[in-house]
Amino acid sequence: MAARSSSILRRALLYVPASSPRMLTKSLGLSSDNITYDLEDSVTPSAKPQAREALQAHLSGLSSRPSAVSELAIRINAASTPHALDDLMALAPLPIVDAVVLPKVNGASDLTFVTETLQHLAPERHREGSQDYNPIKIVALIESARAIVDLREICAASPLLSGLIFAAEDFALDLSLTRTPSLGEFLYARSAIVTAARAANLPSAIDLVCTSYKGEEGLARLEEECQGGKAMGFNGKQCIHPSQVEMVQRLFAPSEKEVEWAVRITIADKKAAKAGRGAWTLDGAMIDAPVAGKARAIVDKAHRCGIDIQGLQEKWRDQEPE
Ligand code: COA
Ligand code: MG
Repeated sequence: MAARSSSILRRALLYVPASSPRMLTKSLGLSSDNITYDLEDSVTPSAKPQAREALQAHLSGLSSRPSAVSELAIRINAASTPHALDDLMALAPLPIVDAVVLPKVNGASDLTFVTETLQHLAPERHREGSQDYNPIKIVALIESARAIVDLREICAASPLLSGLIFAAEDFALDLSLTRTPSLGEFLYARSAIVTAARAANLPSAIDLVCTSYKGEEGLARLEEECQGGKAMGFNGKQCIHPSQVEMVQRLFAPSEKEVEWAVRITIADKKAAKAGRGAWTLDGAMIDAPVAGKARAIVDKAHRCGIDIQGLQEKWRDQEPE
């Protein structure tokens, strides 16, 4: 199942409104793990046909993904709207589309509809054994109480599902709650999402948008939100402005300190294992199988984020278990 590969890196997911020719062009020069062209809520209902056509022309004109982008996605309209099928018919046949971000997923049937439509519109990409086998991934936006309650069923609904995203604004509307800087009101929903994604072995859980993006104050809020989201288990964050991307990419990659710690553990753990020691200490703290496993995962992720692991391995090659 290629869609569930853990190699997907989706630290920043940047929305680009398909209705803005200027932003479509600008998107080609940006560095972001994911760029998601939006046909949903940043586009007014009357502008949808024109935005869809503009996006189709934009994507058809690309011979390959920009080198600093690892995934090009489209956010279509909700499966319950008449626009969804038009969006898929116009865009799913394009080979450059890696993923579909599906908003307002309220149950398994929304995912079944999109999965079957994708399989029908791009049959060779979805036929195992085909030369062009490369399934389009689906990333589901969770933005209602109903979706939170049905997470288990949603996660099991499609082999193409490759991540969940928490959308705070629609969730707040659904529950009539008010967003506060602490984000405490979203604790249950956010935690439920990361837990469900992990339990279903989905490679990504992406956190809410930081709506303030201007100046020092915007960046300070963003930093706080990234740290909180990462600590909860999210591996990426939605962005609405290019100025947010660098910080999100950096803070959702393992930090220098974390990587150094992890490299030391992985080196010492091999030596401890050879000596038949399952539990040992480093810097006065006990290290055993789950800690060593976490260290290996950090090293793997750091490697995929382009961090120089070899240099650190060289620096710490004499690390011994205490
Ligand atoms: N993608 C690509 N380019 C973007 C961008 C985005 N999301 N947001 C801003 N830019 C570009 C602008 O076009 C501008 O380019 P220019 O220098 O060539 O003129 C530059 O970045 C600076 O933009 P700025 O003037 O600071 O912002 P703005 O007032 O033009 O736009 C928003 C502010 C919030 C309206 C805009 O960022 C936006 O539409 N974001 C996405 C909203 C969205 O998709 N919402 C739905 C998902 S939650
Ligand atoms: Mg929404």
